[in-house]
Amino acid sequence: MIEKSVEEALNRQINREFYSAYLYLAMSAYFESLNLKGFANWMRVQAQEELTHAMKIYDYVNERGGRVRLDAIEAPPVEWSSPLEAFEAAYEHEKKVTAMINDLVDLATAEKDHATVNMLQWFVAEQVEEESSVSDVVQKLKLAGDSPGALFMIDRELATRTFAPPTAAQGDGK
Ligand code: FEO
Repeated sequence: MIEKSVEEALNRQINREFYSAYLYLAMSAYFESLNLKGFANWMRVQAQEELTHAMKIYDYVNERGGRVRLDAIEAPPVEWSSPLEAFEAAYEHEKKVTAMINDLVDLATAEKDHATVNMLQWFVAEQVEEESSVSDVVQKLKLAGDSPGALFMIDRELATRTFAPPTAAQGDGK
């Protein structure tokens, strides 16, 4: 069994991961509206990854004999003022998620719930990657400035990102 406090915190994190998927899908739709298909693709893949994060915790709570409780998902913003503003917002969001994961690790540690601490290590590592990949695009957009040619080149690069479902070792909740 799992402590109530840990179960509740994991349920909140499931909701935040679904919100992350919603946020990035909203950003994808924003980029579609600008006809920046590569940026839209990158955000759509990001949204798919967030769904796997939510499901990883969902599976884990069930596996531990806990109860998953799904809550309402907050509506994300619809518009951003520029591609750079959208990616900066994504970066800020990822930093918040990292803080949430760290708080979860602290709680599970205080509860001596080693299994949850172990499960969360995957997320600790994943957040390093998440922050770094979003920050890479922020830096590129800053370098591109107002150049449409540079923006087009970044768009072409981001079009190549594909969704790779997590392997058994990474993301099936085991
Ligand atoms: Fe699930 Fe982007 O953190």
